[in-house]
Amino acid sequence: MLVVATLSLKGGVGKTTVALGLAGAAQQHGVRTLLVDLDPQANSTIALDTAPTLATVADVLDEPRRSVLDRAIAPSGWGDGLDVLVGAEQTERHNNPDPTPKQLGRLRRALQRLVENDGLLGDTFGSAEVDDPYRLVIIDCPPSLGQLTRSALAAAHRAVLVTDPTMFAVSGVQRAFDAVQTERQRGNSELQPLGVLINRVRPRNSEHEFRIGELRELFGPLVLSGVLPDRSAIQQAQGACLPIQRWDTPGAREASAVFTLLLGRVLRSDRVRRDGTAPEAAPIAPPATH
Ligand SMILES: Nc1ncnc2c1ncn2[C@@H]1O[C@H](COP(=O)(O)OP(=O)(O)OP(=O)(O)O)[C@@H](O)[C@H]1O
Ligand SMILES: [Mg+2]
Repeated sequence: MLVVATLSLKGGVGKTTVALGLAGAAQQHGVRTLLVDLDPQANSTIALDTAPTLATVADVLDEPRRSVLDRAIAPSGWGDGLDVLVGAEQTERHNNPDPTPKQLGRLRRALQRLVENDGLLGDTFGSAEVDDPYRLVIIDCPPSLGQLTRSALAAAHRAVLVTDPTMFAVSGVQRAFDAVQTERQRGNSELQPLGVLINRVRPRNSEHEFRIGELRELFGPLVLSGVLPDRSAIQQAQGACLPIQRWDTPGAREASAVFTLLLGRVLRSDRVRRDGTAPEAAPIAPPATH
């Protein structure tokens, strides 16, 4: 089970869009996935057309027990293979600016419960492949560096840093890298940045080209080669509670291709994490038909 957080320390740059796009790609390629909606705005829970539950992620953070998790996880309305740990406004009560280490560890403990077998944990977190109900867990973070985002970093193996191609991108991405680094030093040594995904790129926009160049110069290969274009199809698909992969327009196909690339990077990274094979050795399955 690989845990990936979508992160930015600025609001509205596309964390939820990337979490949903990656979840849609995973579902399309038969990768069983849980999306954890850690944002009190609960945007991804809504866009995933999730059925009502008896509990939410806020309750899971109160009591990170399997029975609470079971009540807070629902199948997404997008179909088989994609579940949601449901978000709620009440999650805000877990967003203290100065959390204790115990509070920061609650999401990680809850996700560990997913790989438990008859009360026993796998040898290390995320390595109990036989019993893993999910191959991928995606955490959609809120736009601040409070307890919630830091809990996501404490629970994640990889962080996708999302940015837009604007003047403040470099400082925002740098601060997000710093947050990842701080968490690595604080306790989660497995955490690594998966890469920087640049969102809402408009073609032939010289300011965007300049900012993308700036990011590539500073962050090198960590800047993902597939940038996500600004396309109204993304908003339309979200408004219709459908995955972009099932929105059949040229703009949607462009965006889907970027999410397939991102999924490939995620799965290669998982393979490298687990057994140290070369990144090229981890192909993704062909798209499933719906
Ligand atoms: N590439 C894109 N093309 C068009 N619209 C986009 C794109 N990416 C995001 N949007 C739209 O921009 C808005 C903000 O995106 P999103 O909700 O993904 O950002 P966020 O970082 O999760 O925001 P928040 O910080 O509030 O959680 C949404 O309405 C979304 O549909
Ligand atoms: Mg969001």
